[in-house]
Amino acid sequence: MATTPFAELHMHIEGALGPELIFALAERNRMHLPYSGLADLESRYEFTDLQSFLDLYYANMAVLRTAEDFADLTRDYLRRAAAAGVRHAEIFFDPQAHVTRGVPLQEVLDGILDALGASEREFGVSSGLLAAFLRDQPVHDAEEMLGELLRLRAPLLGVGLDSAEVGYPPTLFEDVFARARSEGLHVVAHAGEEGPPEYIWQALDLLGAERIDHGVRCLEDPALVARLVDEEIPLTVCPLSNVRLRVVDSISDHPLRTMLQAGLRVTVNSDDPAYFGGDVGDNFAQLRSGIGLTDAEVEVLARNSIEASFASEARKAELL
Ligand code: HPA
Ligand code: ZN
Repeated sequence: MATTPFAELHMHIEGALGPELIFALAERNRMHLPYSGLADLESRYEFTDLQSFLDLYYANMAVLRTAEDFADLTRDYLRRAAAAGVRHAEIFFDPQAHVTRGVPLQEVLDGILDALGASEREFGVSSGLLAAFLRDQPVHDAEEMLGELLRLRAPLLGVGLDSAEVGYPPTLFEDVFARARSEGLHVVAHAGEEGPPEYIWQALDLLGAERIDHGVRCLEDPALVARLVDEEIPLTVCPLSNVRLRVVDSISDHPLRTMLQAGLRVTVNSDDPAYFGGDVGDNFAQLRSGIGLTDAEVEVLARNSIEASFASEARKAELL
């Protein structure tokens, strides 16, 4: 675990929805689950790639129906994150995945924001919310969702881009991101998880991404690494996610140290803690045993996470 306070900058709140909460929410909402029991559901957490994970991730979201469900989920995440040493959290949610199931956007926002609003007092974790657009859905849906979020005056920190990456390049979302930026929102994007380095270039040049989520494939392109180093663009790397989605073969093969040694602004994050084998503390623990991550490296990663956050300068100063 980190010895200094750190920030989690890349986690999807829907990815904190674990088997036990899935069963509890199904019962509360009187829904039938297509699993014979907890063990049956738990046996399905074997993934071969990003899509095989996304299939289960979207299916399980069906149990999230009310503001109370979203609040319970968010509180559950914040409690665990605080216990792992997180002092600031920037959380993605996938609004399109909920409105297409008939859950009103306001209901989703009310639940998540209720938990986030109490987070600093309740858990000592300051927080912010990022709306992620689903890149494998029509661009028009993302445009509409941004319009709705603005109309509702959702107190967002910014927007991101997630879901199936290959075949859905950032270039598709240039206009949506331009509008988000013009509204004063921060912008980040998943790129270079399964997709090629070219998608990272596009996220920087066409979307104006201030951070790259994942970005591990930048290592295939020395000119891109030089650019990321030069411009001090943070990369929100998710080691256990990379292992479980077969982006890397094992934790011992993870290129985190190579990235640090290249001078990249790397941070460590959990992505989807209920799906990939643990919270950000578990990511650090496995890096320590898997690649011999040192205390000094953990310090750098912790500092990077605070500096790369969109927290106020006052909050950053408190945490550094
Ligand atoms: N990649 C892309 N989309 C996602 C992920 C991820 O790791 N987790 C949730 N949505
Ligand atoms: Zn992610």
